[in-house]
Amino acid sequence: MTAPFTIGFLGAGQATQAIHLPALAAMPDLWRVGAVMDVNAETARIVADRCGARGVTDAMAVIEDPAIDVVAINSPHVFHAEQLIAAAHAGKRAALVEKPLAVNREQAEQVAAIAAGTGMKILVGTMHWYDPGFRAGLAAWEAAGATATRIRSAIFVPPNAQFVGAATEEAFPSPPPPAPPAEQPPEFQRERLRQTILGLAVHHIPLVRRFLREPGIVVEARRHPPFGYSLLIRAGDQVAELLAVMPGQWPPSWTFEASGPDRRLHVDFGPSYIAGASGRALLSDANGDRGFAFGENGYAAQWRHLHDALTNDTPLDMPVEQAIEDLAYALDLADAAADVMEIVA
Ligand SMILES: NC(=O)c1ccc[n+]([C@@H]2O[C@H](COP(=O)([O-])OP(=O)(O)OC[C@H]3O[C@@H](n4cnc5c(N)ncnc54)[C@H](O)[C@@H]3O)[C@@H](O)[C@H]2O)c1
Repeated sequence: MTAPFTIGFLGAGQATQAIHLPALAAMPDLWRVGAVMDVNAETARIVADRCGARGVTDAMAVIEDPAIDVVAINSPHVFHAEQLIAAAHAGKRAALVEKPLAVNREQAEQVAAIAAGTGMKILVGTMHWYDPGFRAGLAAWEAAGATATRIRSAIFVPPNAQFVGAATEEAFPSPPPPAPPAEQPPEFQRERLRQTILGLAVHHIPLVRRFLREPGIVVEARRHPPFGYSLLIRAGDQVAELLAVMPGQWPPSWTFEASGPDRRLHVDFGPSYIAGASGRALLSDANGDRGFAFGENGYAAQWRHLHDALTNDTPLDMPVEQAIEDLAYALDLADAAADVMEIVA
């Protein structure tokens, strides 16, 4: 048996408390938490105490600690790239960085430069890519040589706080987002749409890109305030629809679907934050339906995959170059959508 690797968390808010720590708690042979950093000292202390780690407020105290093998970057988006780059310079063995990998092209280039010259394994937390149900459905789809003409990602989620409340007793709950201003000039509306795409649509960019043969063009974009979008991408004979509506008081639903003339793959992912089973994938064709589901979800699967790659010194399933291309695609998509979006008077 290999000794567990030691993780240092950067950022100890909802994603750390309600997603990653519960996933890791189920794999004590693989991982231990050595440090929890947050700029809020109380949050760092309370969350660190819960997992027997030390709590700190200085990211470099974690990044430069030789006892920390892997950093988990769960800070606000804008800090991801700089913390990842610092971790690579410090010689960390791996980083699990939450989505998005970076927030603009300049940061993306800096990450690409460091990624090319480092041995650090970088896994971006687009968890549905690692979901065992999705992976099995995808493998069956590709084994059949199927081609999709229509791709659809649809997200209907209640406010995060509702899930987080069900998953954990949050230390220092994040304040609710500020109410949007009454006046929303066009540039505000465009920027909101960009942020929503980088924050939420980005989850399914790796999945969508796997099915699209070419990048395509955004032919329609709409914002669904306060935090939603619908996008229509046309790419040759393929169309991709990306839809998200949140927050709302409806049952959560997060689905991905690819369909062609003779086959359909439909995946129903479980709600984020609730530790549970994989997505349920259903492949339907002339031979009937085949279902795929497993006991572990994408959050757990990504930590297990990272552990395997470190233990066996094997490459990650998603090379960092692909994650950087996905980010570039998301940035282009966000700009193109902001250009064509309908501005609400
Ligand atoms: N994969 C998923 O399903 C999922 C779900 C939620 C959030 N996320 C991602 O996780 C990240 C964190 O989101 P969250 O929901 O936990 O947000 P949050 O606001 O609940 O927590 C962020 C924490 O970071 C701390 N912080 C602020 N500046 C920091 C810095 N410079 N360094 C370290 N920590 C700092 C804040 O004090 C706060 O405690 C985001 O990138 C988000 O996109 C992913």
